[in-house]
Amino acid sequence: MKGVMVVLLFGVDLLVPFGSPSLLTLDDYPISLYYRDSRFSTVLWFRPPYCLYELWAAKTLHSSQIPRQAATIQMQVKLSGDNGVYKATQRFPVPMCSPTGAQSLALGDHAYEMGPALACLNDTCIKAVLPGRRYSIRFLLCNQDLTVLAATGWSRHFRTRDMPHDFRTMDVYFGGHSTEMLVVTALTSAAAFLLLGAAGLALVVRPP
Ligand SMILES: *[C@@H]1O[C@H](CO)[C@@H](O)[C@H](O)[C@H]1NC(C)=O
Repeated sequence: MKGVMVVLLFGVDLLVPFGSPSLLTLDDYPISLYYRDSRFSTVLWFRPPYCLYELWAAKTLHSSQIPRQAATIQMQVKLSGDNGVYKATQRFPVPMCSPTGAQSLALGDHAYEMGPALACLNDTCIKAVLPGRRYSIRFLLCNQDLTVLAATGWSRHFRTRDMPHDFRTMDVYFGGHSTEMLVVTALTSAAAFLLLGAAGLALVVRPP
C-alpha cells in the first residue's frame, strides 16, 4: 500500500513539472444558460464561468504569474451527433467572481454568446449554429500564450429554438388577414392620402 502511494505521488510529480502551470479539470463546474430560456434559433447565451479563475488560483501555486487580466476564457462546443469539437469565434474576458445585480440586467454585455458561427479548433473552418439542434459546451481558462490552465467538464445539451415552420403564424400575427390583403389595403390608404394631400395643396395654392 505504501509502495503504491509512493508510486502515485511520483507519477503526479512527473505529470506536473516544477515551474510550469498544471491543467486543472473541474468536472462538476455548473454550466447553465444566462437566464432560464436565453435561446434563439442560432444563438445560445450562457452564464459566464464565475469564479473559475479563483478556483484555479486557489489550487495552484502559479496564480501570481498569471493575473486575471492576462487570462481569457475559451468556450468549446460539441454538437449532438457530431464527433468534432468547435469553439466560439471570440475569446471572453475572465468574469469577476460574483455577479452583481447590475450585471444580470445587461444581457448583451455579460452573457457569453455561442453562435451564430463556430470555428474549428484549428481555425481553418467555420460552422453555422443551426435551429433545433443540441449543443454541449465547456469552458477553458487560458493564459496569455493560450495554454489551457483549467477546463470544466462538458455541460448537458442545450437546444436551439426551432425556426417557425410555416407562415400561418404570420396570419395570426396580422389578425387573420393575408399578406396580400394587407398590401392592397396599404396601397389604397397611400393613394387616398396622396389624393387628399393634392386636394389640400390645390386649395392652398389656388390663384386668387
Ligand atoms: C482542421 O480541423 C478540421 C476539422 O476538425 C479538419 O477537417 C481539417 O483537416 C483540419 N485542418 C488542418 C490544416 O489541420
